[in-house]
Amino acid sequence: MTRIPLVGGNWKMHLDGQGAAALASDISRSSGSIEGEVELAIFPPHPYLSMVSAAIGGSGVHLGGQDVSDEPSGAFTGQVSTSMLIDCGCSITLIGHSERRHGLGEQDELLARKVRIALDGGLRVLLCVGETLEERDQGRTFDTVIGQVRGSLDAVTLDDMSRVELAYEPVWAIGTGRTAGPAEAQEVHAALRSELCSRYDARSAARIRILYGGSVKPANAAELMACEDIDGALVGGASLQAESFLDIARATARRE
Ligand code: PGA
Repeated sequence: MTRIPLVGGNWKMHLDGQGAAALASDISRSSGSIEGEVELAIFPPHPYLSMVSAAIGGSGVHLGGQDVSDEPSGAFTGQVSTSMLIDCGCSITLIGHSERRHGLGEQDELLARKVRIALDGGLRVLLCVGETLEERDQGRTFDTVIGQVRGSLDAVTLDDMSRVELAYEPVWAIGTGRTAGPAEAQEVHAALRSELCSRYDARSAARIRILYGGSVKPANAAELMACEDIDGALVGGASLQAESFLDIARATARRE
């Protein structure tokens, strides 16, 4: 099955409103040349979603939230709901990024509720998993990421699977300049796909996109994206400039 790759730009807590709108316009303007070969998604800070949505216009670049609440509405100071993200133009949300799992202590049980509410409300989900350096050194990489998939997708049915994507992001590779080698990443991606095959079915496992994230740059994108089970990238630092983000997207598109 041919999977159209997906390249996401996770802007984290960077940029100001003007910078976010300008970056979104630059990306959208150039996205036409790779249309059909790769899908693009950008994940700006929540306050800039509407501005970025306007800047994207009808370019086909997807807009996403960096996180979503596990509650539909109510007295939850600082949280943002699925319907709010949709109101601002989002079609997708990140869930379980390592800066929330490890930085803020979010556990699979909470993430499973977020996944469920996001899907029920009409968003696609890009679920992030990844092991720490300690877990890798102890030989627990596979147990960790497969445990995270099982826990976070606990309430996800076969029918939901067409709206779920995964990102494998080794924690030790995020923002460190250190990236998993292609063979190292590929074996984890293959293990994740095989877990999805036994948990759901071969068809949805073959369809789902599994992105790699962690210090992806234009210089290392092509070799990572050439791997059989790597279907795109979730990019942090290098997504803050249109040119480097688009270079990664072009390197990804070229593999098809
Ligand atoms: P990085 O971040 O590309 O800066 O390593 C990736 C991510 O956190 O999604």
